[in-house]
Amino acid sequence: MVKLLDGKTAVVTGAGRGIGKATALLYADHGANLVLVDIDPAPLEEAVKEVEAKGVKAIAVAANITKADECVNVFTKALELSPDGVDILANIAGITRDAVIHKMTEDEWNFVIDVNLKGTYNMVQASVPAMRDKAKAEGIAKPRSIINISSTSGVKGNSGQINYAAAKAGINGITRTTAKEWARFNIRSNSIAPGFIETRLTSAPSDDPKLGIPEQQMQMIQMLYSQTGLQRKEGMGKPEDIANIALFFASDLSSYVSGQVLTAAGAMIDSY
Ligand SMILES: NC(=O)c1ccc[n+]([C@@H]2O[C@H](COP(=O)([O-])OP(=O)(O)OC[C@H]3O[C@@H](n4cnc5c(N)ncnc54)[C@H](O)[C@@H]3O)[C@@H](O)[C@H]2O)c1
Repeated sequence: MVKLLDGKTAVVTGAGRGIGKATALLYADHGANLVLVDIDPAPLEEAVKEVEAKGVKAIAVAANITKADECVNVFTKALELSPDGVDILANIAGITRDAVIHKMTEDEWNFVIDVNLKGTYNMVQASVPAMRDKAKAEGIAKPRSIINISSTSGVKGNSGQINYAAAKAGINGITRTTAKEWARFNIRSNSIAPGFIETRLTSAPSDDPKLGIPEQQMQMIQMLYSQTGLQRKEGMGKPEDIANIALFFASDLSSYVSGQVLTAAGAMIDSY
């Protein structure tokens, strides 16, 4: 197998579960050393074990990305692992707190903006010493890449997600601005905007009743998907579908692509 990230170092947030974990495992398959970040230490440690079993170096840094100092610490640890700097930053951690506009609380608004939008900004800014400054010192810099996770909600809006839609649209602003500011350092920046992907975020509400999609809404999504979605043996979206795109954006296969938002919604382009 051709290893697309051999010898590179990647920081992946939200690496304890779902899309972040699938991305970390795929990056490891492609030879990247990894700094895995999540707010939940237990699934994070499990993810590190699975990544290490693939023969790459990996460290876990438990961090809340809403805290700027914790994001700075992530890159301090990353530079200990890789003194030459970080090649890839995949900002995947995210959260929902859904409510229609007339019922949304200030706390729900602030929390979702904080984790998704400010968290992504915090990580990009904290990456300066390990990415931008290293690239600047190199002169003609080697390729580096930032991947941010947006959402179809951030591109098209979505009923019940005014906080999330605003945060994810804002992330696309971060993506495009970073692409322009850091193009001179050969740092690319792209967003992925997934549609429905089967993860904790979209499962039936359980351990965290504020997360997940209620049964009735789920049935509606499944009906829409059966009518207009891609019909394939895998069914609706899986974390690996998004990890594959995160690999494309991390690798030199996308070496001339920056400032883009790629929607991945299994052909559900108009539905939601
Ligand atoms: N699942 C979908 O349908 C879907 C669709 C579009 C976009 N997304 C986005 O994809 C990304 C990954 O979501 P997922 O579906 O894999 O969900 P998930 O809940 O399975 O994984 C998200 C991970 O992020 C971590 N996290 C949450 N808040 C954090 C914080 N403050 N600091 C550090 N880590 C934190 C969680 O602990 C969790 O491990 C998110 O940005 C989400 O908004 C998901």
